[in-house]
Amino acid sequence: MNNKLDGWLRPILYLGRNPWSMVGAWLTTGSAVTLLVFWLVELIRGGPSHPYAGIFLFMVLPALFIAGLILMPFGLFMRRRALRASGQLPHVYPHLDLGDTVLRRGLILVGLATLANVAITGTASYKGIEHMESVQFCGQTCHTVMAPEYSAYSNSPHSRVACTQCHIGPGADWFVKSKLSGARQVLAVNLGTYSRPIPSPVHHLRPARETCEQCHWPNKFVGDKLVVKRSYASDEKNTESVMALLMHIGGHGGSSPQGIHGRHLDQGERIEYVATDERRQSIAVVRYRDDSGKVVEYVSADKPATPEQLAKGETRKMDCIDCHNRPTHAFEMPERAVDKAIERGLISRELPFVRKKAVEVLRVEYPDKATGLAKIEAGVRDFYAKDYPEVAKDKAKDVEAAAKAVQAIWDRNIFPDMKVNWGVHPNNLGHEDFPGCFRCHDDQHKSADGKTISQDCETCHNVIDDPKVLASLGVK
Ligand code: HEC
Ligand code: HEC
Ligand code: HEC
Ligand code: HEC
Ligand code: HEC
Repeated sequence: MNNKLDGWLRPILYLGRNPWSMVGAWLTTGSAVTLLVFWLVELIRGGPSHPYAGIFLFMVLPALFIAGLILMPFGLFMRRRALRASGQLPHVYPHLDLGDTVLRRGLILVGLATLANVAITGTASYKGIEHMESVQFCGQTCHTVMAPEYSAYSNSPHSRVACTQCHIGPGADWFVKSKLSGARQVLAVNLGTYSRPIPSPVHHLRPARETCEQCHWPNKFVGDKLVVKRSYASDEKNTESVMALLMHIGGHGGSSPQGIHGRHLDQGERIEYVATDERRQSIAVVRYRDDSGKVVEYVSADKPATPEQLAKGETRKMDCIDCHNRPTHAFEMPERAVDKAIERGLISRELPFVRKKAVEVLRVEYPDKATGLAKIEAGVRDFYAKDYPEVAKDKAKDVEAAAKAVQAIWDRNIFPDMKVNWGVHPNNLGHEDFPGCFRCHDDQHKSADGKTISQDCETCHNVIDDPKVLASLGVK
């Protein structure tokens, strides 16, 4: 046993005296110690404080560590080759005496260090993966590229859901797929070849069945839901109008599926459609499996597609994403965003023409973030200073708050670097700002026997705008 070990060790110790192996040993021990210290700090402080700290900690250091591990045997190999070429390779390596306590202790130390190295590499890979799964890595590390999505996400009902839960989901196969496309994305970011804006829809998004349905049960019976909408006019008083929509969301709870959710989803997909454009906004053909299992085909009569368009088009099974395509990256339109800010009191309704002015400054195109933010603030302030000097004086605080609120709306929706502007990503949930539901529900998609996909307002919602009814519902 001793002899065998001796036979292995002698050449290693002898050949190890070369610059490659020395640098390797230095890199490995150096990065290992640094990593350990950082992890200790991280443990005590709870998480890296800066997005780039993560890249360094979980990607650069482990890479150096592994490079060192590779350099060490490489050096041995190179030295052996050089010695052999010059005829200096000894037939017998200098003798090692394993009885020598110094050598024995040295060996034990090396053995322990190797064990520690294995543990470190293992933890490093695990931590690296964990880090790449984090919202911080996805949303902030590539800050220009992901800024629009991250910003909209931070302001949405899903801001506590990790990016990867919708974009990767559970299971090893999608994990590997996402890592492969992730590597391509990192390259695109470094070469600057990514698209601006990042295009939607995402054509290789994992089916909603396997992502959204981890948390949302598709057959939940929601029934009717009252959605109250407030909007403000572009007049001096910012006159408020209130209406409510009783949304017939339905679901699958009783003998047959009902309403918005039930009709399109039931148990699994029941609708398939053919879109003739990249963005799935022009839908030429819709196939619907009705309750009896019969498939009805609806074809667009007002914008019929040519056979080539149909062949080139995308055939897709309808799922959650075809309506909820902006569940978290919900970019707003300026009018609605201002209405919401007024409703929440972030913009005071007491300021004359504030709704009109806010939308006006938001609609202007600015070349970059700094200019936009500065011009918006100045725009709101100057308007009151010039046209309403009394308001500017008496309600200085409100004017300031309004300017800040308008700035914030612009800041979270417009990204000149990424060419993300108002309405770049259409929202399919509705029909006012974008075609949405009316891509199919336009009374123009006809079946062979003359049936259409209905545009009758009350199939989807009742619009309640009678003040008496609203008052009886407690809506003020
Ligand atoms: C609730 C689920 C969900 C979460 C959480 C989520 N996304 Fe998305 N994301 C989507 C869906 C759905 C789409 C596809 C939209 C489409 O196809 O039109 C999308 C699209 C995108 C796009 C393409 C551009 C666009 O705006 O459509 C990017 C980039 C993106 N997400 C990044 C992120 C990042 C970064 C995070 C975390 C900060 C994140 N996503 C978190 C559901 C999610
Ligand atoms: C990890 C769990 C999780 C995943 C995955 C998830 N959601 Fe959600 N979703 C939630 C939670 C929690 C809420 C409730 C948030 C609240 O009440 O503020 C929610 C709320 C919603 C709402 C209601 C939003 C509103 O305005 O009230 C919609 C619609 C929705 N999710 C759609 C989706 C879609 C579509 C997907 C897949 C792309 C998805 N969710 C994926 C957890 C999840
Ligand atoms: C045909 C379009 C459509 C499809 C497909 C669809 N939804 Fe919805 N969903 C809606 C509409 C419309 C609403 C009501 C939105 C509102 O609040 O005004 C809604 C509401 C919701 C809500 C909020 C319910 C509540 O109690 O407030 C959740 C959660 C939700 N959908 C999740 C999903 C999930 C998950 C899927 C896929 C399994 C899905 N939806 C598929 C149109 C759709
Ligand atoms: C891809 C096409 C398509 C889109 C987009 C679409 N629908 Fe539908 N919808 C259908 C089809 C097909 C039917 C079934 C028609 C039939 O009864 O033959 C249907 C039926 C319905 C019904 C049931 C009508 C009834 O008479 O019972 C409701 C409610 C509904 N849709 C709401 C919506 C809402 C809300 C949206 C947008 C958020 C939407 N749909 C988007 C294709 C679509
Ligand atoms: C296929 C289903 C469907 C049909 C048909 C439909 N709507 Fe809608 N409507 C929606 C959805 C979904 C929304 C968005 C709800 C939300 O924002 O939460 C909406 C929103 C609205 C809004 C509110 C817009 C806002 O300010 O946010 C109005 C007003 C409205 N619909 C009126 C009508 C009228 C009038 C008709 C009949 C011509 C009609 N709708 C037909 C599904 C439908």
